[in-house]
Amino acid sequence: MTKVKIGIVGTGFIATILAPQIQSSKKARLDAVSSRTLAKAESFVANYPGAIAVEGADQLIARDDVEAVYIATPTSAKEDVASRALTAGKHVLIEKPLHSAASFKRLSALARQKGLVLMDATHFVHHPRTSAMRQRLAALIGAPRSLHTMFYFPFSDR
Ligand SMILES: NC(=O)c1ccc[n+]([C@@H]2O[C@H](COP(=O)([O-])OP(=O)(O)OC[C@H]3O[C@@H](n4cnc5c(N)ncnc54)[C@H](OP(=O)(O)O)[C@@H]3O)[C@@H](O)[C@H]2O)c1
Repeated sequence: MTKVKIGIVGTGFIATILAPQIQSSKKARLDAVSSRTLAKAESFVANYPGAIAVEGADQLIARDDVEAVYIATPTSAKEDVASRALTAGKHVLIEKPLHSAASFKRLSALARQKGLVLMDATHFVHHPRTSAMRQRLAALIGAPRSLHTMFYFPFSDR
């Protein structure tokens, strides 16, 4: 199977979680990583043989070998990087969240116009389990009357 060659923008916490998953996937390969500081990108790719370190998102987006870009920057920078990647003809996986629905609508319009895939990394909405639950909700539960939920966050820097 041909693997999708993915470039990652940003070398922070969530990039360190996604990178090994990309690398271990049968369908994707970590191709390049960009940082605003080349030394940081070099240190990041040291764990991923074959991946190339580049300085700045623009250099990563410009690479012919990169087919899809995973955007792991702070929320404020995501739309700008994503629109530059889509404009350059790259598929985009954007880490959640975006700062507004309008932001996502602008990006999805651009992706549609260019015939490219745009996905956000809100895992559960894309999981087959979620659509299976939706289909069976009425039969198994009926109309929900209350919802109890929990949120986990790995707050390691106490
Ligand atoms: N899906 C999830 O479960 C999940 C979990 C945690 C976080 N997130 C989201 O993911 C995003 C990143 O979170 P994080 O915890 O990984 O943050 P982080 O550790 O601060 O990493 C973000 C990285 O983006 C780069 N960066 C910083 N400012 C930038 C700018 N102005 N332009 C371009 N790149 C910039 C930096 O890498 P360089 O210095 O190498 O350029 C930085 O290390 C946030 O929106 C967060 O809410 C999602």
